[in-house]
Amino acid sequence: MSATTSREVRLRARPRGLPTLDDFEIAETPMPEPREGEALVRTIYMSVDPYMRGRMTGVRSYVAPFEVGEPLSGGAVGQVVESRAPELAPGDLVLSQLGWREFAAAPARALERIDPGPAPLAAHLGILGMPGFTAWYGMREIGRPRSGETVFVSAASGAVGSLAGQLATRWGARVLGSVGTEDKAAHVRDELGFDGAFCYRTTPPREALAALAPDGIDVYFDNVGGEHLEAALHHLRDFGRIVACGMISRYNDAAPAPGPSNLFLVVTRRLLLQGFIITDHWGRRGEFLAEVAPLVARGELRWRETVAEGIEAAPGALLKLFAGKNLGKMLVRLAPDPTR
Ligand SMILES: NC(=O)c1ccc[n+]([C@@H]2O[C@H](COP(=O)([O-])OP(=O)(O)OC[C@H]3O[C@@H](n4cnc5c(N)ncnc54)[C@H](OP(=O)(O)O)[C@@H]3O)[C@@H](O)[C@H]2O)c1
Repeated sequence: MSATTSREVRLRARPRGLPTLDDFEIAETPMPEPREGEALVRTIYMSVDPYMRGRMTGVRSYVAPFEVGEPLSGGAVGQVVESRAPELAPGDLVLSQLGWREFAAAPARALERIDPGPAPLAAHLGILGMPGFTAWYGMREIGRPRSGETVFVSAASGAVGSLAGQLATRWGARVLGSVGTEDKAAHVRDELGFDGAFCYRTTPPREALAALAPDGIDVYFDNVGGEHLEAALHHLRDFGRIVACGMISRYNDAAPAPGPSNLFLVVTRRLLLQGFIITDHWGRRGEFLAEVAPLVARGELRWRETVAEGIEAAPGALLKLFAGKNLGKMLVRLAPDPTR
């Protein structure tokens, strides 16, 4: 190892409302040194995820908050550069939660060796990673679309939404998506194969769904919350299902906003509204990979990535998620991809 220092992204201040670049700092640290049973890993790609916003508030939730002055963390793929653990060797590619830093030393048990197989390395953070698993689990276990049903997916061109919609299509449903631009709507229809899509910035979701699904919808895969959830409730048919995956439209609210005004429809239409956190279901990951990895290998699923370059770009990449500046999975590349 010739480099003697590493860099990491730290939380400088707890954001109020939409985070700004001033809430983060890039700090230089001495190169970490692996102890017995540990390996030194160089991050290649790191994942940028909406849930990280919640960890910045300092409120304990299903995952511990980030601390001011401490590095952030998140999903990453990296390469072992030095190993003091018998199960890992230099050159091994590993999946970890050690993103937001260029190098990290960690025990071997925190590093999952991966064989990228026919999929590009970055796909292990997207369609074959946590977001893909989230889409698969939510749609398969909660949405459970049946042939001929109508499914509505919000944030449809994103990492989770793009796979959730494609799976529902494969399972025989008619699939509609909402996105933030007309270009994304065209992508969702033409590349991802959705049956219909609309831009919620130009047509309110309730109006758009009235036109696209005059007979109603059976499943709503919610990534957005707020007005989208209210519109979906309005259009759901009796015994419909809501997959409560995320509510990104609310993540930067300084104070809790009132919920949908029509929540009583859950009762009158006998709807199922089920939230989930994918890490509770990690034991099902093998099942997900057994189904989705062959489809990826055969080119039967489509996905996109938006890749920012260098650790300095990481805070800005996170902000871009809330402005819809990503198409597909948002990633930061910290080092050249050795598989390319
Ligand atoms: N439950 C779980 O375990 C779990 C796991 C992973 C992710 N999630 C949730 O799944 C959702 C999608 O995550 P992802 O990683 O796939 O992100 P993503 O969809 O790739 O990126 C976020 C997208 O959200 C949309 N968006 C941002 N602000 C919005 C707003 N105010 N109103 C409507 N749309 C908005 C933007 O797309 P547009 O340009 O289309 O607006 C943006 O591209 C998030 O809510 C996330 O928290 C949940």
